[in-house]
Amino acid sequence: MNEIFSIAGKTAIITGGSGVLGSNIARGFLQAGAKVFIVGSRQETVQKALDELSPLGTVAGSACNVLNIEELKQVKDKVLNLWGNIDILVNAAGGNIPGGTLTTEQTFFDMKVEDFDKVVDLNLNGTVYPCMVFGEVMAKQGKGSIVNVSSMAATQALTRVPGYSVAKSGIEIFTKWLATEMSLKFGDKIRVNAIAPGFFIGNQNRAILINPDGSLTERSQKVIAKTPMRRFGDISELNGAVQFLCSDAASFITGISMSIDGGFNAFTSV
Ligand SMILES: NC(=O)c1ccc[n+]([C@@H]2O[C@H](COP(=O)([O-])OP(=O)(O)OC[C@H]3O[C@@H](n4cnc5c(N)ncnc54)[C@H](O)[C@@H]3O)[C@@H](O)[C@H]2O)c1
Repeated sequence: MNEIFSIAGKTAIITGGSGVLGSNIARGFLQAGAKVFIVGSRQETVQKALDELSPLGTVAGSACNVLNIEELKQVKDKVLNLWGNIDILVNAAGGNIPGGTLTTEQTFFDMKVEDFDKVVDLNLNGTVYPCMVFGEVMAKQGKGSIVNVSSMAATQALTRVPGYSVAKSGIEIFTKWLATEMSLKFGDKIRVNAIAPGFFIGNQNRAILINPDGSLTERSQKVIAKTPMRRFGDISELNGAVQFLCSDAASFITGISMSIDGGFNAFTSV
């Protein structure tokens, strides 16, 4: 493989590394020779992911609330003690929460503000705070790559998920904002980008997309109808884009959001 696409030897923190997307990105990173530290909300699920990932390479992890600056600083210290630097941060912690999705019968005016606040907090601040704590290490090093996780809900209105949409839209502008801040103040070796995954079946969207009998819900039939490739993504199809953005091959790319969506964002379905 051409060396500029390599992430071998780099150190990476993946928040949400115990989740569907994050653990898959971690798997891809390990297979590519990077060292990976995963962060998740619960120790049991982090341990389960570590058990699965450790045969693939150098991996460590711990439970940490991405909304808690002190806990994030403890992770930063652990990673610096282990490996001495942080080359990559992937912010994959997040997702919708049950109360954050309106039922088909509900309207905006039935929305519970506590649920709205929770989902916005997790999906926006849950990326901003890790960028503050781990990004500061990159600023001091003068190099690093951050990849945030946006969504199809960021740029087009998806029904029923108001809080999630607002937060992911925030991720898009925050990615541009932080990319600008890092390059202007800390140099051209620190890059901040986002991926915007289309539809992949994960824990937090399974119920809204797949019926208990395994058939597609009405909503997921609409998703497929608006996806020119006529299918959901396979989780492994995120890895090429994330690794590219973290490699030297992307050395002049910062502030972008890359859709990985089978054409969903490009298509009006007319
Ligand atoms: N699955 C999809 O189709 C899809 C599409 C677009 C975007 N995304 C985004 O990708 C990201 C991951 O989604 P997923 O499908 O893997 O979800 P998931 O539920 O499988 O994983 C979520 C991960 O986030 C972690 N997490 C949640 N709250 C946390 C907290 N407070 N502190 C630390 N960790 C926390 C969980 O422990 C878990 O590791 C989310 O941002 C989601 O919005 C998913």
